[in-house]
Amino acid sequence: GRTYSVSSTFDFAANLFPLSSTTGTGGYAPIGAPTASGQSVGSLEKHKTLTYLNGLSLIVGLIIGSGIFSSPSQVNSNAGSPGASLIIWVVAGILAWTGAASYAELGGAIPLNGGSQVYLAKIFGELSGFLFTWVAVLVLKPGSAAIIAIIMGEYLVRAFIGAEAETINPWINKGVALVGLFLVTFMNSVSTKLGTRVNDMLMFLKFVALIGVTIIGIVVAATGFTFKGKASLDWKTHEWFEGTKLDASAWAVALYAGLWAYDGWDNTNYVVGEFRNPRRDLPRVIHTAMPLVIISYILANVAYFLVLPLDVINSTNTVAVHFGSKVFGPVGSLILALIVSASCFGALNSSTFTSSRLVYVAGKEGYIPEFFGRLGIHSPDSIPVQTTTRTRSWFTKTLSRVVGDEDTGLFFTPVPALVLNGALTAAYVLVGEFGTLLTFYGVAGYTFYFLTVLGLIVLRVREPNLERPYKTWITTPIIFCCVSLFLLSRAVFAQPLQTLIVVAFVIAGIPVYFWRIRGRDQVVKRESRGEKAPWWRFWNRS
Ligand code: ARG
Repeated sequence: GRTYSVSSTFDFAANLFPLSSTTGTGGYAPIGAPTASGQSVGSLEKHKTLTYLNGLSLIVGLIIGSGIFSSPSQVNSNAGSPGASLIIWVVAGILAWTGAASYAELGGAIPLNGGSQVYLAKIFGELSGFLFTWVAVLVLKPGSAAIIAIIMGEYLVRAFIGAEAETINPWINKGVALVGLFLVTFMNSVSTKLGTRVNDMLMFLKFVALIGVTIIGIVVAATGFTFKGKASLDWKTHEWFEGTKLDASAWAVALYAGLWAYDGWDNTNYVVGEFRNPRRDLPRVIHTAMPLVIISYILANVAYFLVLPLDVINSTNTVAVHFGSKVFGPVGSLILALIVSASCFGALNSSTFTSSRLVYVAGKEGYIPEFFGRLGIHSPDSIPVQTTTRTRSWFTKTLSRVVGDEDTGLFFTPVPALVLNGALTAAYVLVGEFGTLLTFYGVAGYTFYFLTVLGLIVLRVREPNLERPYKTWITTPIIFCCVSLFLLSRAVFAQPLQTLIVVAFVIAGIPVYFWRIRGRDQVVKRESRGEKAPWWRFWNRS
């Protein structure tokens, strides 16, 4: 069968970007695709650093962020009963898993950085890939990062002011969020390894936290020990389904809230090209991460129900802090608040890592100014090793040894992309229009998930012989498509006006597409005539 591979064929580049494989400018080929000179364009992918474990902590670290510690109220108040809300958590988890499994198949068949952008471009034409990038780079990625950053700020401030404090100046939260954002952007700029190490550590912490919450819940249930007040459920009397709502819209809202907690399952796909062994590890990462996350979410929810009264669960956005204070008093709420903010910090870190790769790919493709497709330093491949080591200062040398990046050097990361992503995120933190952002995520985000997974089915029909190192059950993408279509239709009917805004924004990307593509083609033509690109186009460096 045919393969789209990072190193061995020209097929992908030739099919999708006919110009790239003939000009050798290196500007437009998908990352990692060989150019006419036989050199790999993607210097990032040349240094494949991600292992199975890195991938796992990346995705788990990104998925477990704020959601499981704050969404239970929305899920439960819309589902109506503990039993129904547990069902929602299971359904949302399985839906996320079917999506992730479908993405795993696509990632194996087309193992390039960029996720949906490359899949859509390959399957439905470049415009669709561009529109995804347009929305994701400008709104979805920085928007969701901003939400996580603000929640992180809220919890950290709460940890010190106290969970019970009613009014906290939102600017304090935002200030803390911005500091966290700066830190994360800086760490990821310095070194890929630094970012991934922090991820690994925080993933461990998150599991400890969720397992801790679960154990406490079980102890409560088993000993019948009640804290001040009445818990939601006496598990012996089984009132699990009392009050269940029978309203499809309410269930859709609950499902969306649950899906936010599971969101991020597509993120390993942005960095497939940086895996040492993507074909083997991508499906492995996804099929370990998803069940782990689903099980720990279900257990944590059961624990909340066993410990906290229903009205508290329904009315709070900081369920975990209430849990902590109920069990251990003020110290408990302090510890839980710290853990949750650390968890959000980790999610912010992982999301910064993957979003910057998306921006970087967009810059490489010429979708956004080429400047954003550059690395912080020149590829070490183009600089003799002795020179780099000699010119490095004592400080940089020590730092690279500490983070374990001696082979590549510091700032061998997409720094301009990281800065752009950080700046956009900061802008959303400052504006703080979360209602609109969540609609964007619900409507635009799910439209592109839906289209991408639909694309998997299209690709199966159109190219049955394409080499697929991992092939999912065909029902998997079908289930995902049906459920996400249901969710989309609900969102459209519930918020027609906001939906219209989202649609208008997507359409606004179309003229931008033609403008960017035209500029790109002109430069390619000029370069094929042997003329140099103007100075403000940076892509002709090697
Ligand atoms: N699941 C995460 C949370 O619970 C949110 C992930 C946001 N999505 C993203 N692509 N960054 O906080």
